[in-house]
This record gives sequence, structure tokens and C-alpha cells, in this order.
Amino acid sequence: MLRLENITKRFSNGTLALETINLEVAPQTIVSIVGASGSGKSTLLRMISGLEVPSTGQLSWNGQPIQRSQRKISFIFQEPRLMPWLKVSHNVRLGLGPSPDREDEKLVTEAIAKVGLERFAHALPRELSGGMAQRVAIARALVARPSLVLLDEPFSALDAFNRLKLQNHLLKIWAIDRTTLLVVTHDVEEALVFSDRVIVLTGQPGRISEDFFISLPRPRRRTDPEFQAWKQAILDAFDPSLLNESETLGEKSYASGH
Ligand SMILES: Nc1ncnc2c1ncn2[C@@H]1O[C@H](COP(=O)(O)OP(=O)(O)OP(=O)(O)O)[C@@H](O)[C@H]1O
Ligand SMILES: [Mg+2]
Repeated sequence: MLRLENITKRFSNGTLALETINLEVAPQTIVSIVGASGSGKSTLLRMISGLEVPSTGQLSWNGQPIQRSQRKISFIFQEPRLMPWLKVSHNVRLGLGPSPDREDEKLVTEAIAKVGLERFAHALPRELSGGMAQRVAIARALVARPSLVLLDEPFSALDAFNRLKLQNHLLKIWAIDRTTLLVVTHDVEEALVFSDRVIVLTGQPGRISEDFFISLPRPRRRTDPEFQAWKQAILDAFDPSLLNESETLGEKSYASGH
């Protein structure tokens, strides 16, 4: 269980990024966080990973306070962040920390197989497509068998086709491993395809304004009228000012739910 109690975050320059965040995430669930740019989504994930320290409040995973670089919690970023001079298997091995042993080699092979890249284990990152590189990042995040994976807009740098492919792939892995996933995304449909819960952050400083428990059965179909109704409910929970702004930027279809 992930537990956040009365978390606030003020940066040293005075910016108050998050205020009074209370959140519990049950094991083996997928929870998405959506919200406007600047509402503190990345800051929240960075605190949960131990990369940032909250200004006030308590943070724990399975009853233990969260520490930096623990193997139980891993991170997937928007871009793969691979070491260009290391082959795929060595990039994946980085997820195990500084001194992997023989048993760990088996974990590397397993993680690469999980993302379907066996044939590319010895390839260099420059020999991979964008989607394949992000699959390496997923393997690196999963290799240490974490119990919690934090994903910050993991597929937003990919084209629509690859995004769908990787979303399905990650869901398939989840159906087997049942690792708890906490996903930050700008894409409400992505949140709905994945999640047991969708949390909406609004304002600056960011606060939790809505917490939707998504009762749709899996696998979910984007064309399903119920799916579309959920999408509209979530979009309605966004800052109204944000929707007006995006309409004037010509993103009307996003605001109106298409
Ligand atoms: N290291 C930092 N120092 C000072 N202020 C910061 C720092 N990191 C983030 N902020 C501020 O905290 C607020 C929240 O930022 P954060 O990156 O968490 O937003 P976000 O919701 O992830 O936005 P986006 O959707 O654009 O990624 C913003 O006002 C940002 O300027
Ligand atoms: Mg962010």
C-alpha cells in the first residue's frame, strides 16, 4: 500500500507545487494522475520515488518510509534515457543497481523477453526504433521486480500507433505481474484504458480535485459508450480555464471529448 498523508511541496525558490495531498493506493492496482501542466504531477511522482523530499507530511510504501534508489520502486520517463554506448541487455541491467550477480543475469533475460526484444539484446540504442527504445526502458524498470512502478507520461513521445501498441503491451505484462502502477498522463483515454482509478489534480499549487473509481470491465474498448461517458466526466473535472485555453489553441476536439 502506498500512503501519502498531508503532503505539501514548496521548492527552495518559494514555488508551492502541491498542497495537502492525501492518497492511498492499493497494491496490484493501476492508478492514473491527470491534470493541467504545472499542477504538480511530476513533482508528486518524484517524491514517491524518493528523488524529491516533501516539505511536510508523511510518505510510505508498505508501511516503510520511502528512500532514494530502492529496488522496490522504479521509474519510467517520457523518453527512454538509455546509455547510447551500452547494448540493450546492459541498459536493462542498470535497473539492478551497481553490482548485479549471476542470478540477476536471469532477471535481465526475462525482462527483455517480457517486452519482446530477445533478438535485440545485443543491439545498441541507435539501432532501435522509438517504440523499441521505450520497451527497453520498460524492461529496465521491471528487471528488479519492483512492487511499484511510477510512469511519467511514458508514451507521449511516441506516434499514435506505437502508443496503442505499448499501452496494450504494458497491460498484458500487468495482467501477469500485477505490479502496482502509478501513471501520469495527459491522455484521458490512456488513463481510462489502464486504470482502476483516475485522480485529477487541479490548480497551482496542485490539489486532488477528483478521484474516480473506474468500474469498466477489462479489456476496455475506447468506442464503448460507457468508456466515452467516463472520458467526458474526467474532462469535465479539469480546470474550466484549461479547456477554454486549449479551445483557443485549436484543440477543440480534445476539450469536447473526441
Ligand atoms: N525543481 C524545481 N524548482 C522550482 N520549481 C519547480 C521545480 N520543479 C517543478 N517546479 C514547479 O512546480 C510546479 C509543478 O511542476 P511539475 O513539473 O510537477 O508539473 P506537471 O504537472 O508535471 O506539469 P507538466 O504536465 O507540464 O509536466 C510548477 O509550477 C513548476 O514550475
Ligand atoms: Mg510533468
